Amino acid sequence: GLRIGSLLKETGRVTYDPGFANTASTTSAVTFIDGDEGVLRYRGYSIEELTEKSTFVEVSYLLIYGELPTQEQLDAFDQRLRRHTIVHEDLRRFFQAFPYDAHPMPMVASAINAMSTFYQDNLSVFDDDQIDLSTVRMLAKMPTIAALAHRKVVGLPVVHPDNSLNLVENFLRVNFGFPSEPYEVDPLVAKAMDQLFILHADHEQNCSTSTVRLVGSSQANIFQSISAGINALAGPLHGGANSAVLDMLEEIAASDDGPQKFMDRVKNKEEGVRLMGFGHRVYKNYDPRAAIIKQTAHDIIDKLGGNDEMLDLAMSLEEIALADDYFVERRLYPNVDFYTGLIYKAMGFPTNMFTVLFAVGRLPGWIAQWREMIKDPETRIGRPRQIYTGESARSYTPMNER
Ligand code: ACO
Repeated sequence: GLRIGSLLKETGRVTYDPGFANTASTTSAVTFIDGDEGVLRYRGYSIEELTEKSTFVEVSYLLIYGELPTQEQLDAFDQRLRRHTIVHEDLRRFFQAFPYDAHPMPMVASAINAMSTFYQDNLSVFDDDQIDLSTVRMLAKMPTIAALAHRKVVGLPVVHPDNSLNLVENFLRVNFGFPSEPYEVDPLVAKAMDQLFILHADHEQNCSTSTVRLVGSSQANIFQSISAGINALAGPLHGGANSAVLDMLEEIAASDDGPQKFMDRVKNKEEGVRLMGFGHRVYKNYDPRAAIIKQTAHDIIDKLGGNDEMLDLAMSLEEIALADDYFVERRLYPNVDFYTGLIYKAMGFPTNMFTVLFAVGRLPGWIAQWREMIKDPETRIGRPRQIYTGESARSYTPMNER
């Protein structure tokens, strides 16, 4: 294998690279991105082909184990996931203790962190069977946990999982079903949800994934590492952008200014005004995920009714941006978050749940990357350097001389 790490061991030199824009922190065989061409592949398979032909459960297997499963492997994986969907009653009761108006992202991050206290039989970072068990537990319970946060936010009773449904169907049930009634799955909604999860499933060394790897590099357990990743995802410049887009669209719709005026404010760099859902550190071309999602937004809004006016507004912002030098010169295009919020809203999710949906989708990627990190003989504890800019040595000043 590559022994790049050992070639680069301490040389006595330090590079300064804010935001790590040019620094590779690891080698990885999971996900490939060509930001100039707008290409995204998981384990070599294009995102376009996977969203068309695969499922979220199969893509999770692919990301984590490196190859597409045989039918037998997929069935076994799927059955295992169905058997682990229920969370411990005490963990469920966590959700009663959060304030009624708490944001669901920190609730979900706390619950995943708390899994290290409930499942102490699978915390070893060196035992493959334990890592597999924690993998399955997290994949199966994350949708249940996300829905517990959702039901808490909207004040509705908990709906327990029904293991005759697959992971995505069950996710819709625990979010939108009724406690002791069977849930009727709308195939178009289930397909769209599945597709959105596939599109979010991994994105190489973004902020949250790098966080998962960095925390994991200290040999903290997988639940702790992924809980840290969920917190990184919460920020508005990362996963939090999907709800920020909807807030932005609603603000524009409510004002008399119209889209052009808003774009002028963006271009004038008014403080705190950005075109949310636009721009990306790596994509300097149309985000391939956004292209697929834009079509899904049309399909879902046509089917469910929903907010045509907002979709029109989003499209006119995109149209203005694609024809405006400010955005063209900076190569700013819609990213994955620009259209997702409209779909989630049409499905019936409250705005503050959008980033949780991103986390449910991203989970297999975090797990795959954590597992790759822990198995990589080149992994060392992550410990960036700094360039010190503070005072040079000085003597302590007694209080009466300050
Ligand atoms: N609206 C207006 N101007 C923008 C935007 C935007 N959304 N994004 C970048 N720019 C401008 C910057 O002002 C800067 O202009 P300048 O050179 O005149 O100063 C230039 O484009 C480069 O932007 P940076 O902030 O340096 O780009 P960086 O790679 O650091 O940031 C980021 C990328 C955070 C995604 C940024 O584009 C942004 O804030 N976008 C909006 C938030 C968003 O949608 N985030 C989701 C990202 S995708 C994801 O996490 C799944």
